[in-house]
Amino acid sequence: MSEHDGIIGVFDSGLGGLTVLRAIVEQLPGEATVYLGDTARVPYGTKSAAVVTRYALRIAEHLLQYPLKALVVACNTASAVALPALREQLSIPVLGVVEPGAQAAIAASVGQRIAVLATEGTVRSRAYERTLLRLVPDAHVVGRACPLFVPLVEEGLLDGPIVELACRRYLEGLAREIDTAILGCTHYPLIAGPIGQVLGAGVRLVDSAFATARALADLLVERNAISVCEDPGKSLPRDLPERRFLFTDANERTAELCSRFFGEPIRHFEAVDL
Ligand code: DGL
Repeated sequence: MSEHDGIIGVFDSGLGGLTVLRAIVEQLPGEATVYLGDTARVPYGTKSAAVVTRYALRIAEHLLQYPLKALVVACNTASAVALPALREQLSIPVLGVVEPGAQAAIAASVGQRIAVLATEGTVRSRAYERTLLRLVPDAHVVGRACPLFVPLVEEGLLDGPIVELACRRYLEGLAREIDTAILGCTHYPLIAGPIGQVLGAGVRLVDSAFATARALADLLVERNAISVCEDPGKSLPRDLPERRFLFTDANERTAELCSRFFGEPIRHFEAVDL
């Protein structure tokens, strides 16, 4: 198998990583993909680093039955705690969302005063903070865990009084300290509007999904492993690259939530037991 023929593996603790897959599909329309959402074990953000690492390794092992040319860890929490273990175990390139997100924040920030909005696990790991300080040693970095955001988005609450209240609870006053905020969790881009309203126009919001897809594109170009889709608009469906969706638990809500995160309906998904 040449690298051109390989496919891109993407995994997340659940469905939120579909925001990252969306960005990958938009930037790399010719790539076949396999997405695994660990919906049976979500959330990862409240679990210990050791447990999240164990889950991540098990998922990677499962995905290796596909001819992967790269693995993208779409989950911020798993990227923050499990990347070294995954890289040690796997012989294919493994890309997380932390490094691309941190780089995008540095590029967007004027004064290098940056907040990392994320799950408890990601904030506790200080992975974003370490990366930001490696890139700009005198940056001012504030980590802010926003644990209610994930359940709100899962519940379909993307705006309105409850979301506004939660945003104010976590973010009020933060704008005095920062000029840029990283949406360091797969779910937060879906409530970027209310987050931005509390932080105000003076704070730039950075979404690591887009930056990660760009980093993947750069990696594939560098390795001469990119698959080009001749004319995605005109191809017949059977000519389009294959997209597989695997979930460790799929129920009635899965299809509805998939559409919310991916931006279009996902008709076929497979259940996997890990
Ligand atoms: N995917 C997780 C993240 O980006 C959010 C959901 C969870 O806690 O598992 O950190």
